Amino acid sequence: MAKVKAVFVCQKCGYESPKWLGKCPDCDSWNSMIEEVKTSVSKTASIGLTSEKKTNPQSILDIKSIQYERMNTGINELNRVLGGGIVKGSLTLISGDPGIGKSTLLLQAANEISNRYGKVLYISGEESEEQIKMRGERLDTLSKELYVVSETNVETIKNHIENISPIFIIIDSIQTLFNPQITSAPGTVSQVKESSNEIMRIGKTKNIPFFIVAHVTKQGALAGPKVLEHMVDTVLSFEGERTQEFRILRTMKNRFGTTSEIGVFEMKEEGLAEISNPSEAFLEDIQFQKEGSVVIGIMEGTRPILVEVQALVSETKAYMPRRTAVGVDNTRLNLILAVLEKKLKIPFYTSDVYVNVVGGLNIEGTFADLGIALALISSAKNNAVNLEKLAVIGEIGLTGEVRPVSFSERIINEAFKMGFTNFIVPLRNKGKINTEGINVIGVSTLKEVISKVF
Ligand SMILES: Nc1ncnc2c1ncn2[C@@H]1O[C@H](COP(=O)(O)OP(=O)(O)OP(=O)(O)O)[C@@H](O)[C@H]1O
Ligand SMILES: [Mg+2]
Ligand SMILES: [Zn+2]
Repeated sequence: MAKVKAVFVCQKCGYESPKWLGKCPDCDSWNSMIEEVKTSVSKTASIGLTSEKKTNPQSILDIKSIQYERMNTGINELNRVLGGGIVKGSLTLISGDPGIGKSTLLLQAANEISNRYGKVLYISGEESEEQIKMRGERLDTLSKELYVVSETNVETIKNHIENISPIFIIIDSIQTLFNPQITSAPGTVSQVKESSNEIMRIGKTKNIPFFIVAHVTKQGALAGPKVLEHMVDTVLSFEGERTQEFRILRTMKNRFGTTSEIGVFEMKEEGLAEISNPSEAFLEDIQFQKEGSVVIGIMEGTRPILVEVQALVSETKAYMPRRTAVGVDNTRLNLILAVLEKKLKIPFYTSDVYVNVVGGLNIEGTFADLGIALALISSAKNNAVNLEKLAVIGEIGLTGEVRPVSFSERIINEAFKMGFTNFIVPLRNKGKINTEGINVIGVSTLKEVISKVF
């Protein structure tokens, strides 16, 4: 008989304790421990690309190098984010808000892959086979080699995999799976951990790639133990405003490629459509020279993208004025505001400040600093910038200096292709830019910029 033992497990981080604790000593969460009864199942320790094979240590020079074998998902935006397709035997986690389109994306990918390579198994713990078929009909994704099953029991799933021998498997979602040997409910830390271990074993020994859907908590963190992120090879996050049609696929972790690439999609009646030129989509109906609006150029991975940043500065009597940023990091916004107050003497402390990036993109890095600053000043002054077809790049330093950014040439090239003719760039970037046929203004301080555009 298997030994039964009760443990209290923190649902945030997976910390285990023999008795209940109000506060988790590991991650400091309150009331996060719940009792989970588990039968001691074999510790699935062996994790890695060659999990079953035992070898002695050898010199790194003697190890044969391998090329990762990749599968084309038929969806370019997804291939790019993965680093050039799905690596055989790899585990990919995809997370995102409810209703964002995870199942849609994976069903589309599953269909394309089954058309190209053979049997794909789509395991859903959330929807019936009929529901999946209905979605498939809507998306027009019905390949003969696409197998679908509604199942949550890991043991049964293992049998299905044995019987069908798929070349690619999707699990939707990890929180619905359960191992009957563990008595705690599906979605608890022990269940998620055990199921993931099982999946990983199958994937690595049979060299089958898995895509696993994982839900996120209200705070946006991956629901379930942090260990999940460490176990898998790749973590993707599917983001976007549900009210807007754009969806952005981002890499949070990738053992087989960079994490800086994004994939852009649009949710349509017939499924997710790829947006291969995001700038065009984001700037679709832009009216140039609007008050509080500035177009900025950024790099997302290897792709230059142009987006519109909007700011609204409105006077308030409130003791604590609002600072609301969508698509821009709040800390970055506060830093820019502080520099503008100190260096340009603009009194933002008497105003509510809102900043929004049009199209639902989240801007990381410092490319957008100068553009955000100009949008803020433009709104505060009730004045649009006086240069038409203007795109802005540049980082702002704490002393009010404008600092260079990388890839300025590529961003400017892209903007030029899109019809932009006026550019404000950090002075130190200007030298690298081919200024033929365009007006490039190099600046080194905020003060200088103001005199040029207002
Ligand atoms: N007929 C339709 N036309 C256009 N868009 C639709 C249609 N039906 C569904 N959608 C879109 O698809 C989304 C649901 O997609 P999907 O089920 O793939 O999301 P999900 O991330 O898997 O959600 P969950 O977290 O519930 O599993 C809806 O929010 C909606 O935006
Ligand atoms: Mg779903
Ligand atoms: Zn904890």
